[in-house]
Amino acid sequence: MNTSSTSKTLRYQELAGRLADLIRQGTYLPGDRLPSVRQMSQQQGVSISTVLQAYLLLENRAMIEPRPQSGYYVCARGQDQLPEPEMSSPGRDPSQVSLHELVMMLMRDSNNRSLVQLGAALPNPDFLPLRKINQIISEIARNSGVSAHEYQFPPGLEALRMQIAQRAVLSGCSLSPADILITSGAVEAVDLCLLAVCRPGDIVAIESPIYFGTLQTLEVHGIRALEIPTHPRDGISLGALEFAIEHNPIRAVVVISNFNNPLGSQIPDDRKRELVELLARHDIPLIENDVSGEIYFGEKRPLVCKSFDKKGLVMLVSSFSKDISPGLRVGWAVPGRFQAQVEWLKFTLSASSPTVSQMALAQFLESGGYDHHLRRIRREYARNVELMSGAVMRHFPAGTRVTRPAGGFVLWVQLPGQVDSLELYKLGMAGGITLAPGHVFSVTQQFSNFIRLNAAAFNYATERAIEQLGEMTRALSGS
Ligand SMILES: Cc1ncc(COP(=O)(O)O)c(C=O)c1O
Repeated sequence: MNTSSTSKTLRYQELAGRLADLIRQGTYLPGDRLPSVRQMSQQQGVSISTVLQAYLLLENRAMIEPRPQSGYYVCARGQDQLPEPEMSSPGRDPSQVSLHELVMMLMRDSNNRSLVQLGAALPNPDFLPLRKINQIISEIARNSGVSAHEYQFPPGLEALRMQIAQRAVLSGCSLSPADILITSGAVEAVDLCLLAVCRPGDIVAIESPIYFGTLQTLEVHGIRALEIPTHPRDGISLGALEFAIEHNPIRAVVVISNFNNPLGSQIPDDRKRELVELLARHDIPLIENDVSGEIYFGEKRPLVCKSFDKKGLVMLVSSFSKDISPGLRVGWAVPGRFQAQVEWLKFTLSASSPTVSQMALAQFLESGGYDHHLRRIRREYARNVELMSGAVMRHFPAGTRVTRPAGGFVLWVQLPGQVDSLELYKLGMAGGITLAPGHVFSVTQQFSNFIRLNAAAFNYATERAIEQLGEMTRALSGS
């Protein structure tokens, strides 16, 4: 771990995170005895009190237990986590989206540096390769002359599209650079894809809950949203989607296939194939957002639905915002059979994406450090998600539920009883903490007792903020 993240995450939290990983991976099984405090301190080169604090943290999370005169033992499985929320159950009718006031309020919060930022799903700046990117940008400014200032008309810089095409193999796709269109982030890519296939008043089926940016795009274009029940681990219900297709003129489907924001769910790869086949039978385009696909916690990169696409109906969308730099504003679309239409829309609406950003990303990817960087941040995010989940378990009242994300860095928390997350949001703001209330992730009211927490950074301040939020939730629930 580099020094900047070490300074923000306390040593004992790091040790606890590493031990939690070992317990989750089965290196230590239920009933196993952990090394003694002294042994652990020598093995890890940390003080006795750091080990004691780490063991206490794991004990509080019910992952280990002390036995008198004997040491610390791994608890029986199942006790170490809160229950998960259940499959969502939205209504069966499409709705007009109208959420922009709430969303703009959250956007403003995310710029306020005096708040503990648990609201916006921003990556941890310590986990972005900013030094290297800045160095590359300086070199471009020094050496590239006019080329850095020319438009890169659609489909965008070829060197970058080449790099994206090469990486796509890892998610099961075989693409040529000509299949890829560079956009200004994933948000623009989703927007262009939706515009290419929908008109105002059309119905689009979406996961429930879903990233509020997608809802905003639907709102802007007057497209109606039909929410489909979605499981917090496996994603969209294919049975419910099929039912919806049979009863509604669905124009397109949008999913965040790997690590839905806010759920952290991942559609299993065989179900991705079924989803693509289902939509192919009905000739319905699928807009697949894979913006967090590289931040997986498992052994290997999950596939994308696009890898099963035989008819050119899947429009894959992603960006470098989660793992390299959100501010460079570079994303891409692989629009399949809608390529010409999406390129025309891109040219018409914004001409080109920033050239310097595209050059910098192409050079960064060519330089070969990306995989190493990704390996590191996957570990860090997995640990922070685990630590924040543990903090929620310690500090929130009984009846709270929390997701177990397979990747990304957000947690979706169901508050007990009828606690209104907007009330919690207001109390949190008064206490200097921002969070994302569940209301913005749906056009129905079904998530008014949910919050999304950004777990990208976990440190002393976030632990305290979670503690405060837990107390506020307790007060609101009357428990
Ligand atoms: C699912 C999803 N899509 C898109 C975005 C925004 O992506 P970009 O910054 O590349 O436009 C986010 C950011 O939080 C996201 O979570």
